Amino acid sequence: MESAAETIQRIFGDAQSSVGAEMAETTTLYKRLHETVFPKPSSTRYIAVANQKGGVGKTSTTVNIAAALAQAGAHVLLIDMDPQGNASTALGARHNSGDASVYDVLEERMGIEKVKQQCAEFPSLDVVPSSIDLSGAELEVANLNGRTYLLKQALESFIAQSSDHYDYIFIDCPPSLGLLVINAMCAVTEMLIPIQAEYYALEGLGQLIHTIGLVQEHYNSSLLVSTMLVTMFDKRTLLSREVYEEVKKHYPSIVLNTTIPRTVKISEAPSFGQSVISYDPRGMGAVAYVEAALEIAQRSPVVLAAIESKQRED
Ligand SMILES: Nc1ncnc2c1ncn2[C@@H]1O[C@H](COP(=O)(O)OP(=O)(O)O)[C@@H](O)[C@H]1O
Ligand SMILES: [Mg+2]
Repeated sequence: MESAAETIQRIFGDAQSSVGAEMAETTTLYKRLHETVFPKPSSTRYIAVANQKGGVGKTSTTVNIAAALAQAGAHVLLIDMDPQGNASTALGARHNSGDASVYDVLEERMGIEKVKQQCAEFPSLDVVPSSIDLSGAELEVANLNGRTYLLKQALESFIAQSSDHYDYIFIDCPPSLGLLVINAMCAVTEMLIPIQAEYYALEGLGQLIHTIGLVQEHYNSSLLVSTMLVTMFDKRTLLSREVYEEVKKHYPSIVLNTTIPRTVKISEAPSFGQSVISYDPRGMGAVAYVEAALEIAQRSPVVLAAIESKQRED
């Protein structure tokens, strides 16, 4: 019988037709990825997704990588640290002002176990929502002792009492380098930096790497920039390829081979309270995020070993 890829190839013509070829390629990749077993990390990976620039794909990346890993069988916790609550929206979590959220966790009114919600689409994905109330937290906790460790402490006490084991814990950060982001950087061992394939992409990166350096020096010496992911990649443009090559040149072992294409489905999905993984599973946006998730999963042994060796140095 003719495969889906062959059908598309037949309808859209030979490989000369780039649309047909691209669809055939995506379909083949979809099938291959869904037949692949995603290895689970030997211990929990704690990953903050950060970039102080807004609109580079932090939230889309956090939501869709988390969903892709959960779909592939991992147990995942996603913590929304952005007062805008975009990740909470995308995963259909309640997050009106006044709802229990990460705001209550940071100010020690509630534990993570009380505020987490199970994602309707992916039962092995739990979400700690944020709400607009969180926008006051930065000022409210500014004078507290240990203000940079509020999330770390909450996460540690949650993990200590929880009977669940998580394979991955992701934190979606707001576009700033303020106290909320520092809290995220102190609570994790890894940073995932999404980089938008555009002209100024690398300009803010120096500032971010500098801040991560300060956090490593003063608060969290085992923090590792483990992953960079180029987003909104348009393979027809030279600029996109140049940005990728530039990032690859500077961070050869950190940047994923997979890039995330610019596609309207990725931007539509949140308005349906969905990840693109469930909204348009066979589209090239979802397939790219699943492929990136597989790469992240496959790199677990190397990344965890690097973190362990950093921890031994202390
Ligand atoms: N690969 C993509 N293709 C098209 N639109 C995208 C893509 N990634 C993100 N977007 C859209 O760009 C905007 C910013 O993305 P978002 O993930 O919210 O970035 P951030 O969290 O860094 O602010 C959103 O409207 C989102 O839907
Ligand atoms: Mg965001």
